[in-house]
This record gives sequence, C-alpha cells and structure tokens, in this order.
Amino acid sequence: MRKVKLAPSILAADFTYLGAQVEEAVGAGAEHIHVDVMDGHFVPNISFGSSIVRTLRPLADKYGTILDVHLMIEQPDRFLTDFARAGSDIITVHVETCPHLHRTIQAIRELGVKPGVTLNPATPLLALEEILPAVDLVLIMSVNPGFGGQSYIPASTARIRRLRHMLDAIGSTADLQVDGGISVKNAAEISAAGANVLVAGSAIFRGKQSIAANIAAFRQALVQ
Ligand code: DX5
Ligand code: ZN
Repeated sequence: MRKVKLAPSILAADFTYLGAQVEEAVGAGAEHIHVDVMDGHFVPNISFGSSIVRTLRPLADKYGTILDVHLMIEQPDRFLTDFARAGSDIITVHVETCPHLHRTIQAIRELGVKPGVTLNPATPLLALEEILPAVDLVLIMSVNPGFGGQSYIPASTARIRRLRHMLDAIGSTADLQVDGGISVKNAAEISAAGANVLVAGSAIFRGKQSIAANIAAFRQALVQ
C-alpha cells in the first residue's frame, strides 16, 4: 500500500501570512507544497509566477518539502527555465498546452527537475499513454482548473482507478496526484482508487480549524 502524501495548494492560503501558513503546513508534515500557476489564458484566472517558488524555496529546504509546480498556462516551454531556476522540484504541464509534449517533458528533465503531466476532466486518459514512461508524476484534475473551492467531480474516481491500472501495467513508479475538491470526506475513496498524492487547498488553509489540525484530520481520514 503506497503512503499517501499531502500537497497543500497555496492558492487557498492567506497571502498576508503566506510564509507562516506554509511553514505551519510543512511543519505539520505536508510532503509537498503545491504551487498553482495560472495565466488567465489557459484558465480564466491569474495567480502567481516563479517569484513565489523562489520565495518558498528556503522553507522547502528547511523541511525537506517538495516544491511541486502545476503550470496552468499556455506555451509552458517559455517558462520552464524560469521555474527551474526559481527552485521547482517538480514541474507539471497540461497535455492540452503541449503540442510537443515529449520534447517538453525532456526539457524539464534536462533542467534537473522532475517532469509531471496532467489533463483536464474531459481529456481522455489515452492522451497520456505514450508519455507515461517518461514522467515522474501524473496529475488527475478532479475539478475544471482555475479556481480553488470547487466540488470534486465524482467521475474522477473511476479515472484515477483506470490511470492506476495504466501505470501498474508498465511498472511505473510515478506518483499519481489528484487536485481539486479534495477533503477529509473523499480522501480515503481517492487514495483507495490509486492516488498517492492529494492536493488540497481549501480543506487545509480554510475553515475553522488550524492548518495543522486540518492536516491531522487528513491523516486520520487516510488511516481508516
Ligand atoms: C484548480 C486548482 C485547485 C486547487 C485546489 O485549478 O488547482 O484545484 O489546487 O483547490 P481546492 O482544494 O480548494 O479545491
Ligand atoms: Zn494544482
């Protein structure tokens, strides 16, 4: 059984206290910091750029946390070097934005960064088939990308199960990450379907409990 890793999405953090909130999350044991980069073109929202990665790099070093960058941007090839130099450990690109996906994945790896690939809820999993052997992470979007706080698309669970079978069939050791609408209520279902990295924004950074308490609640939900 794979250990399930937590990847708090800073999109939902209170930017007034970003450093303190991220430190609370990684101090409570989050294995990834998930950085949702949006350009207002590929998705109908603008978030932040590589300067946020550079800002968080020392915290990631302090706690041994993975800086996991999710590029929801058109023509991501233009920014791979920038995000690599800023200190990204993983750079994940959308199949929908990469006409030369194999070359893009190669370029990420040549920059010394682990390559990830992701796809929108309506993009067939078969779009990933040829590239699966070349990546270290595959991300299933369980909401339509662009905003935090959305509801999990229930059909995502079957996609996670199918993707897990595809990865196992080629003996891949890639992480299977899921992003969007994840909470303590559906975490067990999602990990049972085959995911081993859960991205959560609102469920970790929002709500009445502390960030550390939210992370503990996820751990509790995942041991059931
Ligand atoms: C969508 C974003 C969100 C975010 C997670 O583009 O990628 O999925 O990370 O947000 P929550 O956990 O609030 O759905
Ligand atoms: Zn994301």
